Amino acid sequence: MKVPINVEVNGVKRDAEVEPRKLLVQFLRENLGLTGTHVGCDTTNCGACAVLLDGKAVKSCSVFAVQADGRRVTTIERIGTAEELHPIQLAFWEKHGLQCGFCTPGMIISTHFLLQQNPDPSEEEIRKALSGNLCRCTGYTKIIESVKYAAKLSKKGAAPIRRQQRRVSKTPYKKPSESTHAL
Ligand code: FES
Ligand code: FES
Repeated sequence: MKVPINVEVNGVKRDAEVEPRKLLVQFLRENLGLTGTHVGCDTTNCGACAVLLDGKAVKSCSVFAVQADGRRVTTIERIGTAEELHPIQLAFWEKHGLQCGFCTPGMIISTHFLLQQNPDPSEEEIRKALSGNLCRCTGYTKIIESVKYAAKLSKKGAAPIRRQQRRVSKTPYKKPSESTHAL
């Protein structure tokens, strides 16, 4: 038996029919192809699957798709763009708040929610807010630094500055043989 649902995902209304047992994370990844939301465990511990549901960070592996019916979901795909990074993404990049990057979408969603509630969090508040997000690579120090920096950047609205800098790094790659520079 399938159940009709209508969910607003990243600003677009989506109609679907899903099995009642289908998880929201499965709906996002399998039905909508939004694979930026990761699955890192089957115990609702890792937080890699975090999304915003009606603006609040939730673990999408702990919510059924039918529970999102009539509600608003925001995934990592809506947070910034490749051309214009969100200040939180920029902060994680500049402060090296990631290594493999698997946990990063969830970290960014949780940080987004934190900074909406509390634009100037203390380190203790950051650690508490991210306590549901696990990272196997970084040791967390760089992530905490990234969130602090994200809070600063969010106040300044620094993303457009970086976008300008990024254009420089977009110079087309030349093979050594095509290069005009002597090696
Ligand atoms: Fe949802 Fe790990 S996949 S908490
Ligand atoms: Fe690899 Fe966090 S950067 S799990």
